[in-house]
Formats: sequence, C-alpha cells, structure tokens
Amino acid sequence: MRQHVIRLCENEIEILSRLRARQQEYFTQLYGYTYTPSHTSIAMEYMLGGSMDVVVHKAAKMGKIMPEHDVRKIAKQLIKGLDFLHNTCHIYHRDIKLANILIKSWPKANDKGTVWHVKIGDFGLSEYVNDLRDIEKRGDGIRQRGTGVYFSPEHHSDSWYKRTTWDIDHSYRGRVAKADVWALGVSVYEIMTGTLPFDVEEGCDIVKERFMAKLKRKIHDKVPVKVPVDNGQATLGLWQPPKPKPKLTSLRKYAQGDADFPAGLAECGVSPLGIRFVQGLLKPDSQKRWTAGQALWHGWVTLEEDRETNWI
Ligand SMILES: Nc1ncnc2c1ncn2[C@@H]1O[C@H](COP(=O)(O)OP(=O)(O)O)[C@@H](O)[C@H]1O
Ligand SMILES: [Mg+2]
Repeated sequence: MRQHVIRLCENEIEILSRLRARQQEYFTQLYGYTYTPSHTSIAMEYMLGGSMDVVVHKAAKMGKIMPEHDVRKIAKQLIKGLDFLHNTCHIYHRDIKLANILIKSWPKANDKGTVWHVKIGDFGLSEYVNDLRDIEKRGDGIRQRGTGVYFSPEHHSDSWYKRTTWDIDHSYRGRVAKADVWALGVSVYEIMTGTLPFDVEEGCDIVKERFMAKLKRKIHDKVPVKVPVDNGQATLGLWQPPKPKPKLTSLRKYAQGDADFPAGLAECGVSPLGIRFVQGLLKPDSQKRWTAGQALWHGWVTLEEDRETNWI
C-alpha cells in the first residue's frame, strides 16, 4: 500500500479508537483492525444508506430537493456530533462533506417507523489536538486539508484573505473548528438546494494549480520543452509558467464583502429562519462564524417537528 494511504488508515484508526463507545450515534464505529506488512484492514460499522452525496445528487437530477424539516433532523445530528468532537474530544474532522456523511437509516415508504439517522464518517484527515499541541501550533495557519469546494475562505490563498490578529492569537483548535463549521454550512446548503453555494473553480484549482506549478517548476529546471514563439511556430526553449489570471469567484467576492449571500436557499423555498441558520455557519469572517455549540441553540435547530417524509 502507498505510504500516504497507510498514514490515512492509521490516523483513522487512532481517531476512531478515541471515539469508540463515545456518543456512538454520531460517528461510524470502528469494530476492529489488523496490520500485516502488506495490508491494513479496518472493520467498520456498515451504513446501509451509503453516503449523503449520492442521495442529494440523485434527487437533484430528478428535480427534487429534501423538505426542510428533514434537513433539520439531519443537520441537528451533524451539529451535535461536531460539537462533541470539538469540545469534548478536541478532534477536528477536516473533511466534512456530503460524501463523508453516512446514512444509517432513512424514512422509508413501506416502513412508517424509520427515521433519519446519519453519522459523520471518514476520519482519515482528522486531527486530535491536545493542549500542548494547541500551544505549539498557535501561530500556524490552517493547512490545506480536505476537499477544495468545502474549504473556508481562510483556507484559501493568503493573498486575498488577510489574517487578523485574532487568527494569530486565537487557539489553533478554535480555527480548525471554525473551518469544520464552514464545511458543514456548505454541506447543509447542498442538501437544501442540490447545489454548492459558491463557484468551485478557485477551491478546486488552488490545489491543482499548486501541484501543477510544482510539477512545472521541476520540468522548467531540468528539461527544455517546445514553447510557442511570437510567429506562432514552436521552438525548443525553456518553459516559462504562465502568469495565473486572477479569478474573481463568487466565494472570493462574498468573503471580501463584494457580493451578497447566494440566493439559492430562498429560490428553493427555504424559510427565512433556515436561511439565517446557514448564514451563521457560512459567515466569511471566522471570528463571527458560529461554533458548533452556538449553532446547536439556533431557533431553526431547536424547532421541534415530528414530521419525516419519504421524499425520494
Ligand atoms: N461504514 C460504511 N458503510 C457504508 N458505506 C461506506 C462506509 N464507509 C464508507 N462508505 C462509502 O465509501 C465511500 C468512501 O469512504 P471513505 O471512508 O469516505 O473513504 P475515502 O473518502 O477516504 O475514500 C463513502 O463516500 C461511502 O459512500
Ligand atoms: Mg471520504
């Protein structure tokens, strides 16, 4: 197995071992694992409904979106899980997204008793931060982890995100926790609308571009390649990386205060309270963005409703 995959597996085992038998309803459970020189195997609890991305994207293709009260049931479980993870365990997931939200049960047409039960899964990129490590990492920025379109504004390029004193002074734990909350906001928005809240190019490209730039620097250093010259003909020369064109994606505009919150939620008929809830998770300034603990007490989450619908 490739070294980085082994590291991810070992990390997942370590994190899941910390979570074993604690608040089992919120996290996929680890049943056991084995190491051999050639293989690492993990036995996990089976999540019958698969991952949330499949459900949401299948529904979106059929022109359906999940009713708001069902989204609330799901969001509530995820926030409770995240709050426990952050505040009790000091574990930061760092890859919250629909593909890592797994479905244990869902309301079925032929079985009136079934309800939504989702869990947070895939702890491969998660980080446990103990007190000492928190102090050590206080001045660090947030490292690129997870999936581009779920990155918070502070994850993106330093050139358009100005780190505030708060970012530097505040605990590392506080900052990684807020990045998880942003990713949860993107996920809830996606469940409510079937689409992402912001342009994806920047999020995806930022990783790809850095990788390509690194690769091209290597090529540039070593190999002369064919490069186009002014008269349109190719000639042999040293490749120069093109200057990246500045891209003003909707995320950047929103984070810089030049664009309103995306209109998708209102267009999908989400209630004003529901919109305010998602806005709280997606506040571009991480200092103003809610913690999972704060989100838990928002009026939209605490609203009690018994309905669960078989909507797909
Ligand atoms: N315990 C599980 N039960 C059912 N399906 C799962 C389970 N764990 C993962 N999956 C499926 O496999 C996919 C990938 O698993 P994941 O743990 O997220 O690994 P990675 O993203 O690192 O490849 C998930 O998106 C989900 O569809
Ligand atoms: Mg995954």
